[in-house]
Amino acid sequence: MNDKHKLGLPFEYQQMPEYFDAHNVSEETEGKNALIEKLLKQQRVNTVLDMTCGTGSQVFYLNERGYEVVGSDFSPALIEMARNKANKAGKNITFMDGDMQNLYVGKFDAVITIFNAVGHLIKADFETALQNIHANLKDRGVYIFDIFNLQAITDDIIDNFSLDIESFVNGVKIRNVQHSEINRKNGFLTSHDHYTICKNGRDPEIHTNSFNLQIYTAQELKAMLERNGFEIIHQYDMDGNDFIADKSLNILTVARKV
Ligand SMILES: C[S@@+](CC[C@H](N)C(=O)[O-])C[C@H]1O[C@@H](n2cnc3c(N)ncnc32)[C@H](O)[C@@H]1O
Repeated sequence: MNDKHKLGLPFEYQQMPEYFDAHNVSEETEGKNALIEKLLKQQRVNTVLDMTCGTGSQVFYLNERGYEVVGSDFSPALIEMARNKANKAGKNITFMDGDMQNLYVGKFDAVITIFNAVGHLIKADFETALQNIHANLKDRGVYIFDIFNLQAITDDIIDNFSLDIESFVNGVKIRNVQHSEINRKNGFLTSHDHYTICKNGRDPEIHTNSFNLQIYTAQELKAMLERNGFEIIHQYDMDGNDFIADKSLNILTVARKV
């Protein structure tokens, strides 16, 4: 693990971008993107920088709805796939390689980092990222992001995160068995993946990988945002309901640059 990936990363970000992309298309994703769009509309946003765009889920969704969107990400395989998808669709969308801690693109009405993306940073690096996000926003610009809520993640919820799924992506059969654990002291949600990959009749390839997500309580996030020049406008769960500290699984935060 190099210094850039202090918490490890999911195997599919670098090694299986098609698998990541295929599993990222669901009704749940559509609902999440619709909610982000609703919040952007409420804030009268036109220009958006998605600093953890992956293969472009939010970028394409927002582009199709008339927003001026730039996508960036530090996983080369994922951003390459986003570019290929844009080319195939004949869309002229800018996708940039870069780390949300230091990439400067310009001044936007909004920056977004969606789907637990900031969990890949240790706390000190998230503070660095907040300062950089601040720099990429116009005055009074908004930052929207989501992260698991440490306060509401019970042991039962962790058990429910376990998965055993088999899928076919581009004719390749992939089985992923995953289980997770939580360290409540440091807020690390650790996932262990075991992949069995069968390519047309050849012997199965086995890959195992573990990574941590740094997750937060709403209180911690509030302090971090305020320390780095933001005020919270509102917090929600991922269904768009008001956030409840001991119940909501995720904290979806809309913050404003002050
Ligand atoms: C769970 S994926 C979500 C991607 C996309 N937002 C979506 O909803 O499909 C998290 C993304 O964050 C990116 N990421 C994590 N840390 C990053 C960093 N420091 N700078 C830029 N991108 C980062 C990963 O490469 C990955 O694409």
